[in-house]
Amino acid sequence: MAKKILVTGGTGYIGSHTVVELQASGYDVVVVDNLSNSSIDVLDNIEKISGIKPQFENFDLADSAKTSDFFARNAGIEAIIHFAAYKAVGESVGVPLNYYRNNLVSLMNLLDCQRKFNVPNIVFSSSCTVYGQPEVLPVTEATPRKDAESPYGNTKRVSEDILNDSIAAYPEIKGIALRYFNPIGAHPTALIGELPLGVPQNLVPFITQTAAGLRDELKVFGNDYDTIDGSAVRDYINVVDLAKAHVIAIERLLEGKNKKNYEIFNLGTGTGLSVLEVVTGFERATGVKLNYKIVDRRAGDVEKIWADTTFANEELGWTAEKGLDETLLSAWNWEKKVRGIK
Ligand code: UD1
Repeated sequence: MAKKILVTGGTGYIGSHTVVELQASGYDVVVVDNLSNSSIDVLDNIEKISGIKPQFENFDLADSAKTSDFFARNAGIEAIIHFAAYKAVGESVGVPLNYYRNNLVSLMNLLDCQRKFNVPNIVFSSSCTVYGQPEVLPVTEATPRKDAESPYGNTKRVSEDILNDSIAAYPEIKGIALRYFNPIGAHPTALIGELPLGVPQNLVPFITQTAAGLRDELKVFGNDYDTIDGSAVRDYINVVDLAKAHVIAIERLLEGKNKKNYEIFNLGTGTGLSVLEVVTGFERATGVKLNYKIVDRRAGDVEKIWADTTFANEELGWTAEKGLDETLLSAWNWEKKVRGIK
């Protein structure tokens, strides 16, 4: 019988791509999402790709009674992938309690249920934000974490601590935290992708919306950083590559291939690209000219960060495969599909 995996936040951007990859590997996926930042239609689009509509429940994982009731009714879940969380850095500064409550309480409720209902495995969505601005690049998993720049960033840091301490205390639980660098792009079918509500905060959705005519111009935040061209540098990773790493992490836990009860992996490409290199890449990949201007730095941004992927490559046997142009083209194809552009 197919192994049952709970994907929280499974209608979201990274979650939906991961559901598709899990289904392709033969897993039986159950999605829980409160649709606070996603649409129910995503389930139909997942079905168009995989042929399977995942079982779905709409509730808030910060509600412990509902979470417990869910597990009581859904026996046999062997692992959880926990994506469901708020993720807007700027917003988190204004409403920190919403971020702490949502992001931390939901994780604690899941861990409680893992113990109560014998769900042994969890994969957690963490972020390279826990490194802040590292002294040495690229960053390995052993690079020290820094104080967070935002309540959002702090929820990732504290969530990792909650996992670490809980797994140390309760050996029946095993976990993997995946520290994502900057996920971009969309599924090659253009049936699922990133769909931010309101004005996009992240670079690539802002680029594609500008190209689609929804925004007048991209603002490039800063050109006086100590980088190749003065704009800030990040490690942009294709979302399908990222999704595949989750399937490998799940297999690792289910097959007992993990070396420690709690493990951490960086998920990136290992290459840093500047904002202007991404802009140029978009123009090259799509043939669409992008209107942009240089403005001041954005508060809270780090100058440059990219991953050392050795540990993920060697231990997980996973490597990011898709190149920048293919990835940016997939983001553009998704934007065009959403906006009805031919
Ligand atoms: C940050 C966090 C990441 C988090 C994500 C959630 C870090 C290192 N990364 O990503 O962990 O998951 O937010 O939203 O803290 N840019 C522009 N113009 C724009 C938008 C962005 O120039 O309109 C630039 C930014 O200044 C940055 C780069 O593009 O240099 C990427 O920005 P963004 O996509 O927002 O991601 P991060 O801030 O790196």
